[in-house]
Amino acid sequence: MSQPTLTAIIGGTGLTQYPGLEIEREELIDTPLGAPSAPLIFASLHGQPVVFIARHGHPHKFPPNKINYRANMLALQQVGVTHIIAVNAVGGITPAMGAEAICIPDQIIDYTFGRDDTYFDGVFKPLDHVDFSYPYDGALSEKLFAAANSIEEKVQMGGVYAATQGPRLETVAEILRLEKDGCHVVGMTGMPEAVLARELSIPYACIALVVNPAAGKSEGVITMDDIYLALEHGVSKVQKIISAYLQQD
Ligand code: HPA
Repeated sequence: MSQPTLTAIIGGTGLTQYPGLEIEREELIDTPLGAPSAPLIFASLHGQPVVFIARHGHPHKFPPNKINYRANMLALQQVGVTHIIAVNAVGGITPAMGAEAICIPDQIIDYTFGRDDTYFDGVFKPLDHVDFSYPYDGALSEKLFAAANSIEEKVQMGGVYAATQGPRLETVAEILRLEKDGCHVVGMTGMPEAVLARELSIPYACIALVVNPAAGKSEGVITMDDIYLALEHGVSKVQKIISAYLQQD
């Protein structure tokens, strides 16, 4: 018999609470690698069981470089999560990635450093080298794309997510380098989350919401006010895609 589906939604900046959930319970899960960022919210959304976690805590308190990603992902595995949809606010690098654009990336380049980014460290688990050629789960990404299409929400399928260290935003030269590297969007939380999901063998896909043009891609400075404005509009589009996904056959 196949395992029943239990979808986790990891909420990023602007999504520390998920509106519309029918909450059953909240549980602060303990893991051998410490506490996750926030209690897990067990809920139902469109009749489907889901688990929600606020990546940065609720209220938003952990910067991207201080999140205990290993505990977050382990907690999701411990409660039996079978699929993970990660929602990430990002800066847009390519012309198509203007504010409020949405991308379902298919590749990552990891520019982060000093993060606890593996379970296979010879301490928690024996050393191992997981295949990460295709960092996101193809089937789950395709289903999210189909869900977006079904409600006529424009989404770029495929793209390279640049994971930067933060918490500061990038310099113009750094963004030019990422562009030359082939990156489409830039965010601070895509890694090590994606690789930890892979190490735990949990299918993981990302919905990246552009909340600002990356450094040097628009006139003037990037302000948090602009980012929050784009989040306010964009997050509801992301939620609609997730709703359509959960209602797919
Ligand atoms: N750079 C990195 N991370 C981000 C950005 C950005 O411009 N916007 C939102 N998250």
